[in-house]
Amino acid sequence: MAGLEPEERTDKHRWKLGGIVGWRPSRRMQTAEETQKSQQAAAMRGLLHYAKPYKRQFAGVLGCTVIAISADLLQPFIVKIAIDDHLMKGGAEFRPLLLLGGLYLLLSLLALLFSYFQNQLIQRAGQGIVKKLREDLFRHLSRLSPSFYDRMSSGGLVTHISGDTETVSQFFTQVCLSLVRDGMTLAFILFLMFQLDPVLAGYSLLLLPAIALIAALFRSYMRQTYQLSRTRLSRLIAFTAENLSGMNIVQAFRQEREQEKLFEDRNSSYYEANLREIRTNVLFNRSFDLLGNLSVAFVTWLGGRAVYGDGLEFGVLYAFITYIRQFFQPINSITQQWNTLQAASVSMERIWKLFQTKSELNETDSQSIGSSGDPRLAAGAVRFDNVRFGYSPDEPVLHGINLHIEPGRRIGIVGTTGAGKSSLISLLCRFYEAQQGTVSIDGVDVREIPLKQLNRAVGLVQQEPYLFSGSIIDNVRLFDPSISEEQVLQACSFVGADTMIQRLPYGYATMLSEKGSGLSAGERQLISFARIVVFRPSILILDEATANLDSSTEKMVQHALDAVSEGRTTIVIAHRISTVMDADTILVLRSGRIAESGTHGELMRRGGYYARLYAHSQGQADEHSAG
Ligand SMILES: Nc1ncnc2c1ncn2[C@@H]1O[C@H](COP(=O)(O)OP(=O)(O)OP(=O)(O)O)[C@@H](O)[C@H]1O
Ligand SMILES: [Mg+2]
Repeated sequence: MAGLEPEERTDKHRWKLGGIVGWRPSRRMQTAEETQKSQQAAAMRGLLHYAKPYKRQFAGVLGCTVIAISADLLQPFIVKIAIDDHLMKGGAEFRPLLLLGGLYLLLSLLALLFSYFQNQLIQRAGQGIVKKLREDLFRHLSRLSPSFYDRMSSGGLVTHISGDTETVSQFFTQVCLSLVRDGMTLAFILFLMFQLDPVLAGYSLLLLPAIALIAALFRSYMRQTYQLSRTRLSRLIAFTAENLSGMNIVQAFRQEREQEKLFEDRNSSYYEANLREIRTNVLFNRSFDLLGNLSVAFVTWLGGRAVYGDGLEFGVLYAFITYIRQFFQPINSITQQWNTLQAASVSMERIWKLFQTKSELNETDSQSIGSSGDPRLAAGAVRFDNVRFGYSPDEPVLHGINLHIEPGRRIGIVGTTGAGKSSLISLLCRFYEAQQGTVSIDGVDVREIPLKQLNRAVGLVQQEPYLFSGSIIDNVRLFDPSISEEQVLQACSFVGADTMIQRLPYGYATMLSEKGSGLSAGERQLISFARIVVFRPSILILDEATANLDSSTEKMVQHALDAVSEGRTTIVIAHRISTVMDADTILVLRSGRIAESGTHGELMRRGGYYARLYAHSQGQADEHSAG
């Protein structure tokens, strides 16, 4: 079937994003940088739009964070009270100490509990956002026209759906969380320190810019090493994937050694980048620890002198030292988020560009007609009026095609490789749209037929039929539950696929993987014929469909097809002229033009291009039978 739709169109989701984000390029010519900025801003706004439904969760995160941090940071304060108000005063009163101990325990439990809630909430929101994003992205991609897929590599798209959305999720679960949690922690520590002793707090504050500067410098260096190792890893993965999928070619051409060598190069460069990254990481963490210890020493020295001079209570010094220690962790963590933030903004921008790509096929509203099929397209008359088409407009492939096919006729199309046969069919299935002229079915312009209806009306069998991951039954009925298993079984035995399917380990329930691996090309073909029998389209197109079948299977399928095509418009494209000889009309396509047309007899009498093709094919057939 042509251009399958995995699910019902839900147009209400479709351009919602574009509408809300409303990104418009300004009239003034923008510099590249400005364009990028506004793209980024649009992407950010889009992201916030996704976050909107989770407002309450985010508010909850904020609340939990405040409680968790307060509970955490009040602990040294409790110890300070215990030291200054009880231990240092002497006296053997245990009750207040016990009380303080209990309070300490309570605070740590509170901190634990609320960090757990905070984590749960933010994960739920972040994962929810990304789940929706992935859904929308996949839905959007499944609506884009084939010309988009001519330009994009599927590997890149896989990265968008898996990797980029994952990075975006990290934006919420790491960046946002860190900004809130660590920002608050810093502010809270500073507040407590000033509460305890403004002078000592002032001195400690002197350290802050130095710590931040060193952290930022190190981070930027670490970012480079990180990116280097990521790039090398993705190169390694891409190379491995390419090799695995083309392993039969590699082996057939005895390229194993060369490929191994190339693999080793990539592997060792990744190894080196990784080692460098780890070295930098260790160096940074240790230096940061050292810096922390220096600060503690500094405060101990300053504070110790003050304690001796009786200007400072011992408990206050204890609390101070604890806070200074806790000071480093949030700074470290915030500077770390810079990486994730940048990665997320790049990812979001890439995803955004995809959302901005519109299908080149304008979709008419499919809600107005029932899903069973368009009654207007029952007969199956096909018309091409002065159709011009090229995959890129400046390289025309079809030049002014005029073609009228009456309902129920059997048409054969022949022509050399690259003549434009499949392109002609692509226009009828509306994989692409003609640049000029109209293609219509039963008098309705194909551009006005909802794709779903068109797919029902035009059944296409190609040389390499696409099978979905799913059972054989689902592959035949295309996941349409309104078609019973009975119908599927009947269709399969009708095209002679029955015996082949019975032999499979689980019969009709056998799960096929992508590309139908496990089945031969001919077996896949049989399944796609069964589809046609089940869906009974008013127009049947066979593009080199029987080329993969052995001659006895082909005879059987031909028989079934004759029965199916009875009363249906049938277009058969074939290299073997014998396949189309008995067609009502044979079209001879030559360099994107219809060179000749007529019945086999008429064309032979004419003694033109067709007659030459025929003679040529006969010659080949003779050679084969002689050899
Ligand atoms: N997706 C595409 N993007 C760009 N050019 C294309 C694309 N598909 C086909 N072409 C070009 O269009 C021309 C016609 O191709 P088409 O597939 O229609 O030929 P064909 O008659 O079906 O050939 P064959 O008998 O080999 O199947 C060729 O020159 C081909 O290179
Ligand atoms: Mg072709």
